[in-house]
Amino acid sequence: MNTLVRFERDRDVAVISIDNPPVNALSPGVVEGLKGAIEGANADAEARAIVVIGSGRTFIAGADVHEFQKPTSGEYVANIRACLAAIENSAKAVVMAIHGAALGGGLETAMAGHYRLIAPSAQVGQPEVKLGLIPGAGGTQRLPRQAGVAKAVEMCAFGAPIKAQDALAAGIVDRIVDGDLRAGAVAFAREVADKPIRRTSDRQIANADPAIFSAARDQARKKWRGQTAPLAAIDAVEAAAKLVFAEGLKREAELFDECLRSQQSKALIYAFFAERAVTKIPGISSSTPTYDIARAAIVGAGTMGGGIAMAFVNAGIPVLIKETSQEALDRGMANIRRNYARLRPETAEQKLAMITPQLTFDGVDQADIIIEAVFENLAAKQQVFHEIDVIAKPGCVLATNTSSLDIDQIASVTARPEMVIGLHFFSPANIMRLIEIVRGGATRPEVTATALALAKRLGKIGVIAGNCPGFIGNRMINVYGREAQFLLEEGASVEDVNQALFDFGMAMGPLAMFDLVGNDVMRDIAAISGPAAARNPLVLPRLCALGRLGQKTGKGWSQYDENRKPSPDPEVAALIENTARAAGIQRRVISKEEIVDRCILALVNEGTRILEEGMALRASDIDVIYLTGYGFPAWRGGPMFYAKRESP
Ligand code: 3HC
Ligand code: NAI
Repeated sequence: MNTLVRFERDRDVAVISIDNPPVNALSPGVVEGLKGAIEGANADAEARAIVVIGSGRTFIAGADVHEFQKPTSGEYVANIRACLAAIENSAKAVVMAIHGAALGGGLETAMAGHYRLIAPSAQVGQPEVKLGLIPGAGGTQRLPRQAGVAKAVEMCAFGAPIKAQDALAAGIVDRIVDGDLRAGAVAFAREVADKPIRRTSDRQIANADPAIFSAARDQARKKWRGQTAPLAAIDAVEAAAKLVFAEGLKREAELFDECLRSQQSKALIYAFFAERAVTKIPGISSSTPTYDIARAAIVGAGTMGGGIAMAFVNAGIPVLIKETSQEALDRGMANIRRNYARLRPETAEQKLAMITPQLTFDGVDQADIIIEAVFENLAAKQQVFHEIDVIAKPGCVLATNTSSLDIDQIASVTARPEMVIGLHFFSPANIMRLIEIVRGGATRPEVTATALALAKRLGKIGVIAGNCPGFIGNRMINVYGREAQFLLEEGASVEDVNQALFDFGMAMGPLAMFDLVGNDVMRDIAAISGPAAARNPLVLPRLCALGRLGQKTGKGWSQYDENRKPSPDPEVAALIENTARAAGIQRRVISKEEIVDRCILALVNEGTRILEEGMALRASDIDVIYLTGYGFPAWRGGPMFYAKRESP
């Protein structure tokens, strides 16, 4: 017996435990071990029934995603399918005992068993679409037989896991076990040992309403714009509704193989590992001590201060917000209240009770972290750091949310630059997952480790960025925005540029982004992050001078109605044309390909410079920043991955 799968007997019940830390992925040894153990239990005359359970923190998190990056991936999946067939065909009842999570191949394994028990805190799901795949080991065929077509489509095409209660209600599990799961599963196995075996594959699917599939396709095209796997998942579930089980499995396998070969799944799998690589930092390990963060203080209740406060509250950390005027404080709290308006009133009240707005520094000496979020102005920030340095307790992390200023210059006014770090949240800070973590020259490793742990606790991704103007993200967005503007000067329209990049998969076009963020803000970012260049965009300063700051003034590169819906503005078209002609720029027709290439390659080139300068630890960190902070399409892997891709 291999060490990844243990076989024991509890009197008349065989107990098979999977022990493949950290998440019991179905790695090659596990798959063979599990199949062998099922066969062994069937051959064991003393065993009347079988329990399969996971050791450690979870049941099975799915197939081992590393295996999909190897040329042997086809064989690997075939082995999983053979293992699941052996489970389903077992002559002795197989009871699956789920704790933690049964995801992807984990849920498929569970569904191949004859019964499923679940711990109250566990979750089940088919998240393969997030990796550009579909369930490939029978999930799209067994799930509709257990939970119905509508639920199966929802789970396979949208990927969100569901909780134990929902899994019970959907018919995916038979019972929730409070208390000792293993003991409960063994007792249950004895109850069912003499019953006739019931196999999911024998179940019939009730007539499925075709509207379920068409509605799901419409929704998938919206939610997963540009992605193929969600549509393939819907096709596979539809096949379950139309074909006998064996034929349905074949169709699922074909669709799975297409997804596995696609550039999209390569990109999404890369992104999965890239997100997990960000915490691997030279000089910092899991044994690096961190400071406990139980209380936070935020200075400034503006757009960012309010958003950051909500992010902390969502993670259960109480915050104190300090402002300079009652008016600003009231405005900030009103924004927070507006945000909470869609919550249940009790929940909103609970959250509000965790925020203490005030005009003094009272209580700030109790904070474990202080985050400064005042105006983007060095002197203003230095003044705040000077003040908080006097008050903060020893061991308090002093963070700045600056989006471009030098962390060392900010830290220099304190007596403890080793405690200072940049935490560059993105707007809206309660929603956006990215935090650029910017270390100063003196920042202690413990402070960096605390920032990383905090990011995780806030449900965010913290990526280390070097202390250079604009850090990583804004430095890159600056060159991208410049290129978009050069294209306008050379003859493309605002709408052409926005549409080309939207169609490429960006969440919005570059000029739409300028109008959202504010053209004045983008101008300031350019002033700080932009290299001294031979050519500079000509129109942006003029737009700003005209007060066309973007959505906030109703006009920017486009004009906006009261619902912030954009439409082309002939005034802007004329301004661009006149400015370009006056500067002697030759205007011409510019193709969509050229628009995409020039803007995306600008990102790639700047990313390369950032890497060369050591401002990013690895190319994949740059990609994570772009995927989580700047709306780059996940299925293209990020600008650096895109640049290295095989030809599409
Ligand atoms: N394969 C390989 N490695 C995996 C993995 C998987 N399915 N799931 C997690 N890991 C690794 C991570 O890379 C990480 O490694 P590291 O420590 O070296 O960086 C480690 O396990 C811990 O993972 P997390 O940091 O993500 O731990 P969390 O506790 O935050 O989350 C989890 C745990 C919810 C299980 C999360 O890891 C997760 O969502 N995993 C992926 C689940 C998934 O997508 N399953 C489907 C796989 S595809 C499939 O099954 C195809 C089938 O249909 C044939
Ligand atoms: P904002 O103008 O909305 O808010 C700033 C707030 O700070 C105001 O309410 C002001 O009254 C308050 N303030 C000023 N001086 C203060 C002091 N000495 N003590 C206490 N409060 C003070 O600005 P915003 O947009 O929230 O930006 C804050 C910081 O976050 C800036 O450094 C900015 O660069 C950065 N940032 C902004 C992003 C955005 O999209 N708005 C994104 C990421 C970072």
